[in-house]
Amino acid sequence: MAATRSLKGLVALVTGGASGLGRATVERFIRNGSSVLICDLPTSSGDGIAKSLGESCVFAPTDVSSEADVKMALEIVKSKFKKLDVVVNCAGISVAFKLYNFLKETCHKLSDIEKVTKVNTVGTFNVNRLAVELMAENPPNEDGQRGVLINTSGSSAFDGFIGQSAYSSTAGSIVSMTLPMARDLAPQGIRCCTIAPGFMDTELMGTLPPEVINFISDTTPFPKRFGKPDEFAHLVQCIIENPMLNGEVIRLDGGSRFRL
Ligand SMILES: NC(=O)c1ccc[n+]([C@@H]2O[C@H](COP(=O)([O-])OP(=O)(O)OC[C@H]3O[C@@H](n4cnc5c(N)ncnc54)[C@H](O)[C@@H]3O)[C@@H](O)[C@H]2O)c1
Repeated sequence: MAATRSLKGLVALVTGGASGLGRATVERFIRNGSSVLICDLPTSSGDGIAKSLGESCVFAPTDVSSEADVKMALEIVKSKFKKLDVVVNCAGISVAFKLYNFLKETCHKLSDIEKVTKVNTVGTFNVNRLAVELMAENPPNEDGQRGVLINTSGSSAFDGFIGQSAYSSTAGSIVSMTLPMARDLAPQGIRCCTIAPGFMDTELMGTLPPEVINFISDTTPFPKRFGKPDEFAHLVQCIIENPMLNGEVIRLDGGSRFRL
């Protein structure tokens, strides 16, 4: 029988863990007996959330695109929890602007694509590259597995909206790095998968006008609604528990495909 792992006793580092998909993931881990390091910006509510979740949850103020910050966060994991089994990359930002707005005669700012790439693409890459050294120190389980990396992309990697060319490029790059990361880390028994959510009911989406929310819900085949953050967290758990999932990108979007 294939080995399965529950979340109990695992140590997880969750970036963007102070909000939305990351926060739901942190809460699921804690409910199921894992220990968690929340890595989020110093300005986030990460500290208060960690304190409210008890001793198994710690906050490390971290900018995921900073080598020094991520190294410091990993030092905290090592000294507090002694090991690292799982990384879930949920930190991210978005930007929406047409490549060229002909009504306003304004070009997409170069600094916008640089900023979103730095957080989403470089941040995911940075956390994974630094975390695997500690993960590789784990003794292998009966399957030879030492750890799991889980990234967050988005459905815009496949069909981005108008105004999402910069943001979509970051979602696409996270999709593209998944298989080579899995191949790089296979000798160490570390898996790498990516979740590509459609529209999820988080603060990031809270600013959408009701007519847009209704349109998106109506055009989703089933269920006709936004995804719930805990449905994302549930998929994180499924990926951890199923050792054959590797190098794969899994869409979580109720079958939604946009035709504009
Ligand atoms: N919510 C959705 O519908 C949806 C859909 C597809 C993809 N996504 C992606 O999922 C990820 C999480 O989305 P969410 O809805 O939970 O967003 P969110 O805004 O609720 O949470 C993102 C978290 O990332 C943190 N963060 C931002 N920049 C950071 C940095 N440089 N270093 C560390 N932390 C940083 C924020 O402080 C915040 O806590 C994002 O990458 C987003 O693009 C979300």
